[in-house]
Amino acid sequence: MRLKVVLTWKKVLALAGVGMAGALLVGWTGLVSIAASSGHFSVVRWFLGWTMENAVETQSTLVSKPEDLDLEDPSLIRRSAGHYATGCAPCHGAPGVSQSPVVEEMVPSPPRLEEKVAEWSDEELFWIVKNGIKYSGMPAWPAQERDDEVWAQVAFLRALPELTRAEYAELALGGEVVDDDLEAGGETVAALDGIVKNALTDCARCHGFDGLGRGQGPTQHTFPVIAGQPAPYLLATLQAFSHGERQSGFMEPPARRYDAQVLEALARYYSEQPKLADAETGTLFPDGAVAPARDAPVADPVSDRATVGGATLAPSWQDEAGILEGEGDLSYAAVPMAASAGPPSSREELLELGRRIAFEGIGPRKIPACQSCHASEPEGGNPFYPYLAGQPEWYLSKHLQLWQEGQRGGTAYAHIMDEIARNMTDEQIAAVSAWYSQRPRPHTNEEDTVPQ
Ligand code: HEC
Ligand code: HEC
Ligand code: HEC
Repeated sequence: MRLKVVLTWKKVLALAGVGMAGALLVGWTGLVSIAASSGHFSVVRWFLGWTMENAVETQSTLVSKPEDLDLEDPSLIRRSAGHYATGCAPCHGAPGVSQSPVVEEMVPSPPRLEEKVAEWSDEELFWIVKNGIKYSGMPAWPAQERDDEVWAQVAFLRALPELTRAEYAELALGGEVVDDDLEAGGETVAALDGIVKNALTDCARCHGFDGLGRGQGPTQHTFPVIAGQPAPYLLATLQAFSHGERQSGFMEPPARRYDAQVLEALARYYSEQPKLADAETGTLFPDGAVAPARDAPVADPVSDRATVGGATLAPSWQDEAGILEGEGDLSYAAVPMAASAGPPSSREELLELGRRIAFEGIGPRKIPACQSCHASEPEGGNPFYPYLAGQPEWYLSKHLQLWQEGQRGGTAYAHIMDEIARNMTDEQIAAVSAWYSQRPRPHTNEEDTVPQ
């Protein structure tokens, strides 16, 4: 006897329906083994691992590595080492840092990465770190807009297998382990001091105690300079990170770790650190230009600015004539605008273009002089505007690009930069970033010491 089964759409659908109902029934009984304590059968473990590897391999084919990216760049490695210590090592361990028995009970348990990274291509590592892995505890990158940060983390992973315990401690922990004497302390008055001190040691793993950023020689320009930035700007920025209004996988976690009072103390502390040498020379006026007397008729900078991102500046910083406090002697509008005289062909020409953009703005594109808001010594200027002199080149250009792409939030004033950046060409961004970054630094952080 032969049994003849004719498959029709109806039968296929009915079968699928029965299958689904079966699955629901099994789920409903509550008998599925979800206990981590019992682990997986080895065949299930193999199947899940195989599926994960295939998924990463297939989906990472869409990842394209930026052409100018150098994963051996020591500055990228340093930039992400501190984040590894707090964002990855608690699960994956690190040189000299063992995995907690708690973490070892996770299913799947996070592997030590020293032994694993060689099995993955750069693109695959990027995919894993950016997207995370569902149902495993492996988290996605906190700031999905920041591929540059994910690549920096990949650079660190590549360096990881070779790092000694001491090298890791120097890179990621500021040379010393963050101690936790707070728990031992305990009195309420001392407590805030204790938290601030601990918090500062945490920040200093990356920014140094002097706010100039840790790193010497080739890694000198790893972190933005926060020393001497106005305290209101620093605090508003930390709050923006904390609320996710400014995107950074490196900064959102530390900003979220501490409450408002502690952030305020940290902002005050860093604003009091000596800023860069350019403080003396980074005034609005280029050599030889004479500032008009305070009561002389001057171009009204505010009306110019009103075109910037539609931003109207808060009245408290303007006098009756609409002139910004302390910036009444602004004369950038009277300085000839940068001419578009062919692309710069040497570093000198690039720097010269950058200097002119900084002091004169770009007239045809309605971009005001950067210095009108970003001078190092804005006497009575808006305390929510950062100075730019001495900031790393990568940092300046990256942030202008992020604004162009609509991916850079920040304080309540951040939108002012949207339109400025959108109106700049790549070359103008490169030029002005190069110029600001080469403003001299007065001292390096060789003697960065713990404040008493
Ligand atoms: C809460 C714990 C946890 C944290 C935090 C964590 N991971 Fe993971 N990670 C895991 C787990 C669990 C796996 C294993 C996933 C699997 O096998 O499916 C994993 C897997 C990985 C893998 C693939 C390793 C392999 O070969 O299986 C990489 C690479 C990785 N993590 C990097 C990182 C980086 C970089 C960070 C920090 C930015 C990080 N992880 C933070 C839990 C974590
Ligand atoms: C793991 C390294 C790391 C730690 C720890 C860290 N930072 Fe940062 N910080 C960075 C990086 C990297 C950036 C640049 C972020 C970006 O590209 O948006 C940054 C940016 C900042 C900025 C913005 C600077 C500007 O010019 O707008 C401030 C302010 C800041 N950090 C303060 C702090 C404070 C205060 C702490 C301690 C609570 C801290 N950071 C902890 C790495 C770190
Ligand atoms: C009208 C005032 C104004 C002008 C003019 C201006 N900026 Fe800004 N800029 C700001 C403000 C306000 C911020 C802070 C935004 C935030 O993070 O909230 C800022 C931030 C920046 C930052 C990020 C700094 C950091 O530490 O994170 C860069 C880079 C920058 N501006 C570049 C420029 C350049 C280049 C020009 C000239 C082409 C320029 N700006 C002109 C107001 C201005």
